[in-house]
Amino acid sequence: MKDGYNRSINYLRLSVTDRCNFRCRYCLPSKGVEWLKHSDILSYEELLRLIIVFNCEGITRVRLTGGEPLVRKGIVDFVAAISKLKVLDDLSLTTNGSLLAPMAEGLKAAGLSRVNISLDTANPSRFTQITSCGRLDDTLRGIESALAAGLTPVKLNVVLTEEFSNTDLAYFIDQVYNFPVNVRFIEYMPVGGQGGNGPSIAEIKDMLNAAGLGQLEPAAVDIGNGPAKNYRLPESKGAFGFITPVTDHFCVNCNRLRLTADGKLIPCLLSDRAVDVKTPLRAGASDEELAELFRQAVREKPERHCLCRTSGHSDFGHSMSQIGG
Ligand code: GTP
Ligand code: 5AD
Ligand code: SF4
Repeated sequence: MKDGYNRSINYLRLSVTDRCNFRCRYCLPSKGVEWLKHSDILSYEELLRLIIVFNCEGITRVRLTGGEPLVRKGIVDFVAAISKLKVLDDLSLTTNGSLLAPMAEGLKAAGLSRVNISLDTANPSRFTQITSCGRLDDTLRGIESALAAGLTPVKLNVVLTEEFSNTDLAYFIDQVYNFPVNVRFIEYMPVGGQGGNGPSIAEIKDMLNAAGLGQLEPAAVDIGNGPAKNYRLPESKGAFGFITPVTDHFCVNCNRLRLTADGKLIPCLLSDRAVDVKTPLRAGASDEELAELFRQAVREKPERHCLCRTSGHSDFGHSMSQIGG
């Protein structure tokens, strides 16, 4: 379905839980996050019905997000149930990777195509500092297992916070040279977490050029629904991606809606607009009534966000973890 700015909306980011076993500084405020009650979270049956209804309105790609989607019980069976519908072209998941190692093969067998994994540093103590309680080894094992299970392309999400260092950059260059991974540098969005004044993508490109690795060549990376611009180095197995929500927003190509774990359709990540689907769903709404709520959310998509590097955003009343990034 097209929105009011002639953009085709075919991608749904579906948050299955607001809970997370990490507390990344840039994603969650340090205090005052209240988890949703279980009864407020849409059941898998409710989510499957919504996927079917939204698919009839043009959604052909779904990404499962959180919080951390792998903390929700029954997630592998849910992936299998979505796959069984046979209505999607792409079913993917964004995870912090910590619980992935023992689940990767099961997720692949259930029909998941691919995973994006958050990894901001390969320094164990800094990893724990950023995530508050995460252990680097768990996430590294998750990445290895995803590659081994064929959940490819495996994409690594690196949020650029003020602590990002040349040592981190050297690690990610090494990954891109030696493994078929897509390392995506993401500008920190100042919306309630703490990331400080991290480097911009232009600064990262300068750091890469200064490393004397050769010319970055634009690359069409396999499958992707998102805003990354991708580049390869000569003879690298993987690729870099650059995501610039702040210095060069990509709203003109926006193709997505978000569904929060408590059943609100969010027309834009960086706005507080929301269309409640849960209340009508639980009050017995018909498929056509649910489809109309979807169309309403599409109609309410703003032309662009107005986040800026210094002032942050005033129209943002939730944490990134509540909305799934
Ligand atoms: P692919 O399907 O693999 O292209 O995934 P993706 O890039 O859409 O998903 P992922 O969950 O890995 O998100 C990567 C980063 O892009 C995260 O930091 C998101 O918060 C950010 N991002 C994704 N969608 C939007 C958006 O609509 N607006 C903004 N400003 N940022 C977004
Ligand atoms: N700015 C940029 N990216 C963020 N993410 C979470 N919070 C922020 C933020 N403030 C990213 C996570 C995850 C993705 C879904 O969103 O790193 O990879
Ligand atoms: Fe959890 Fe991901 Fe947010 Fe970190 S970025 S707190 S792993 S949802």
